[in-house]
Amino acid sequence: MKVLVLNGPNLGRLGKREPAIYGSTTHADLVAMCERAGVELGIDVEVRQTDHEGELVGWLHEAADEGYPVVLNAAAWTHYSIAVRDACGQLTAPLLELHISNVHAREEFRAHSVISAVATGVIAGLGVDGYPLALRWMAAKIKA
Ligand code: DQA
Repeated sequence: MKVLVLNGPNLGRLGKREPAIYGSTTHADLVAMCERAGVELGIDVEVRQTDHEGELVGWLHEAADEGYPVVLNAAAWTHYSIAVRDACGQLTAPLLELHISNVHAREEFRAHSVISAVATGVIAGLGVDGYPLALRWMAAKIKA
């Protein structure tokens, strides 16, 4: 079973982007970290990143059609994209919402997510370590 890890806008700039908040790990490092976790956990992990909302919506449709579990960091879209939320609402397998930073300890607008209500669970504030943790939970769910 494939698990999709979907990253939204500006996450391709990890490592360069506000390192005090998001750390020094690059997106390429993050991909490698997730793929390594996939090998260890015996699951097929595919990581994608986009700055285009429609592309993310299309990937979520694919996950809905194929029954793929999703780890989603929708980045800024988390806070306002009803299109992304409605696409998430069509998923049948688990959806984990993930944020690298603790969105509850930052600006007020980041505390609200339009996605959480349709997510299975939320991980926030653990840095990029949240990704392998999310995959570990997904692997256990898939095998259960
Ligand atoms: C983020 C938090 C969002 O508020 C922000 O817009 C991002 C990244 C995170 O991973 O901490 O781009 O989702």
